[in-house]
Amino acid sequence: MVISRLSSQPALPLDEPFRPQFHFTPPEKWVNDPNGMVYYGGEYHLFYQYYPDDTVWGPMHWGHAVSLDLVNWQHLPIALYPDDLGYIFSGSAVIDWHNTAGFGKDAMVAIYTYHDPDNSHQSQAVAYSTDKGRTWTKYEGNPVIPTPPNIRNFRDPKVMWYDAGNDNGHWVMSLAAGSAILFYTSPNLVDWEASGSFGFGYGSTSGVWETPDLFELPVGGSDQSRWVLTVGVGNGAPAGGSGTQYFVGTFDGQTFTSENPKGTVLWADYGADFYAAQSWSDAPAGRRLWLAWMNNWQYARDIPTSTWRGAMTIPREVGLVQTDEGVRLIQTAVSELTQLRTTHHTWQNLTLTPNTPFAPDVRGETLEIVAEIEVPVTANKVGIRVRVGGGEETAVGYAPKSNTLFVDRSRSGQGDFHGQFATIHTAQFEPADGLLRLHMFVDKSSVEVFVNGGLVTFTDQIFPREESVGIELFVEGETAVFVPNFEVYGLKTARFFMHTSD
Ligand code: FRU
Repeated sequence: MVISRLSSQPALPLDEPFRPQFHFTPPEKWVNDPNGMVYYGGEYHLFYQYYPDDTVWGPMHWGHAVSLDLVNWQHLPIALYPDDLGYIFSGSAVIDWHNTAGFGKDAMVAIYTYHDPDNSHQSQAVAYSTDKGRTWTKYEGNPVIPTPPNIRNFRDPKVMWYDAGNDNGHWVMSLAAGSAILFYTSPNLVDWEASGSFGFGYGSTSGVWETPDLFELPVGGSDQSRWVLTVGVGNGAPAGGSGTQYFVGTFDGQTFTSENPKGTVLWADYGADFYAAQSWSDAPAGRRLWLAWMNNWQYARDIPTSTWRGAMTIPREVGLVQTDEGVRLIQTAVSELTQLRTTHHTWQNLTLTPNTPFAPDVRGETLEIVAEIEVPVTANKVGIRVRVGGGEETAVGYAPKSNTLFVDRSRSGQGDFHGQFATIHTAQFEPADGLLRLHMFVDKSSVEVFVNGGLVTFTDQIFPREESVGIELFVEGETAVFVPNFEVYGLKTARFFMHTSD
């Protein structure tokens, strides 16, 4: 049983500088995209782009871990190794409930990209496991979609079961190709037929499109639903470098159609470090849960960590809401994270005086903060500074005169390892009724901010000194600010159990 395994093995010490305490990191070496995310038999599987020989990108493998609760993780042996067909690039996994592929009852099937390092050709392939993802067999007929003659970037298959009703259905693959997403359908996960495409000028095309995801969600407070297509954009995201955009529309089992004009660009996150987001297949209770690589291709190989490089964001629950501008994505931290809370301090009905920060006697490298702040239109800037100390701070807040939310990491700590790191990230936003609601997760080397129910999020790495642990509520300008509610939780370290041979 996994439960006893989770508790009988040693947890990683996580004592290096900057080592996240509740964000997933590999035991050592380089990680990028989350891959193969599927829930099966009580376990959330997280595979990931992994290079086990160095702390920079190299020949890609799929690393592997499982969790029962999205918070504590069990590391497992590498699932997929490179072979004669190439490196194992990003992809997805599904449970083949109806044994359509004939690999066995409830087979876990991974669909991934082969990248041939000799000629950069990319093709799609399949591997399967009949022991809960512990051991894998590559399909002998690989590749299942060969390299097309004229497409250079052709990768990152995300597969889902499309339920067509009346016991009918088929598999659908979304695949990134240049600045488009191609769709394929299959009865059995190995025979694939092109069924449509989307993109070609829609949304942001400032970088190569990668790592798509496709799912249907109810629109909160209505009886409607929409399909969401999410896409990694390799460059030109709002905070610079790589970022994640999304489209809202319909999917008819063959192809996706956006309900917005070509020029509409929607971003899933406005920080610099939210890339290659992927959601879990078959998550229980109808939840759509995802996480992303908490890094940016601009400087990923330069971040100042030691034995490992790269982390995942916290898992988030994704939803849709109707706004005045249209249907939009919202993200909230999964409720499972509340198990990490330790101390709890609250303040009600504070009045913040201009230019005199409120600095509570609560400090920490790992914190969860909940705040409701009334934002007068006449204030210059209002918000919360975290990881404050010795001239360092990371400021999260709102500038009402320009309707701008911001995360300012220009003085957050180490930042000179790359010219594009020490920057300010912004998003245009008007809080309903002038009430700014911030939900923040602070870890040893990151801040994640969920604004007003997750309508806007920021995910940003920071590399402060260990001693920079202060918090300040602040308002700049002439106007006092009313803070109805301010809460700070201490967070304990999640457990990341090492793999020892069984
Ligand atoms: C996205 C990406 C994918 C590719 C993988 C390679 O970050 O470039 O498109 O499959 O990383 O590691």
